[in-house]
Amino acid sequence: MSARPGQRPNGLPRDKICQFKLVLLGESAVGKSSLVLRFVKGQFHEYQESTIGAAFLTQTVNLDDTTVKFEIWDTAGQERYHSLAPMYYRGAQAAIVVYDITNQDTFARAKTWVKELQRQASPNIVIALSGNKADMSSKRMVEYDEAQSYAEENSLLFMETSAKTAMNVNEMFLAIAKKLPKVDPATTRQGTGTGQRGGAGGRVIDVTHEESSGQGGCCKN
Ligand code: GTP
Ligand code: MG
Repeated sequence: MSARPGQRPNGLPRDKICQFKLVLLGESAVGKSSLVLRFVKGQFHEYQESTIGAAFLTQTVNLDDTTVKFEIWDTAGQERYHSLAPMYYRGAQAAIVVYDITNQDTFARAKTWVKELQRQASPNIVIALSGNKADMSSKRMVEYDEAQSYAEENSLLFMETSAKTAMNVNEMFLAIAKKLPKVDPATTRQGTGTGQRGGAGGRVIDVTHEESSGQGGCCKN
């Protein structure tokens, strides 16, 4: 039986719940929505529809003493939506930049997203690079080592993933959750909505002292 948010498996309350805004970026059809669908619902659709504008979903990850709640903005990769992207990555504490390992152009595009984030997003944003469609390695065009070196040079988390087989999907979100700063509740009361260029700290809810305030009911035990 899995523990509810805010509760450890042994029934004792977790210390805190942290909310973080996470954005997915990358060229159209690399599998951003599929990664989110796999992480949030454990599903995969062969005929996933191309995203229009953006989609919003939430999911929680349980660490030892903290429940991390991700507020996920799954952006549309089609070029005509590019101008909307800053609205979603501004104020984000984490980003997953996705490319398709069978398509070099998508890796080049991922690099330009990383540059844009480094210039325009929160200075301490945690960026993960996902080489998706790892199940299609017979059609591989982007070498693992090339992407890993690039990620190291740019201090990015890096994993090859497959939304289809679920390989490394939960692991990637967990790695991000671990890397995010869980700052003290007394010092962070700012929201994580769109439009702010805030710090990298997430909104921390002390479950023992704060009632849920329309934040999705995640404080209720
Ligand atoms: P936009 O919304 O247009 O930006 O695209 P997207 O990045 O959200 O891609 P989407 O998740 O819609 O996936 C595009 C296609 O790739 C769909 O047909 C998916 O079924 C397929 N796909 C996604 N992830 C994987 C994967 O890991 N392996 C394989 N084999 N196919 C995948
Ligand atoms: Mg999509």
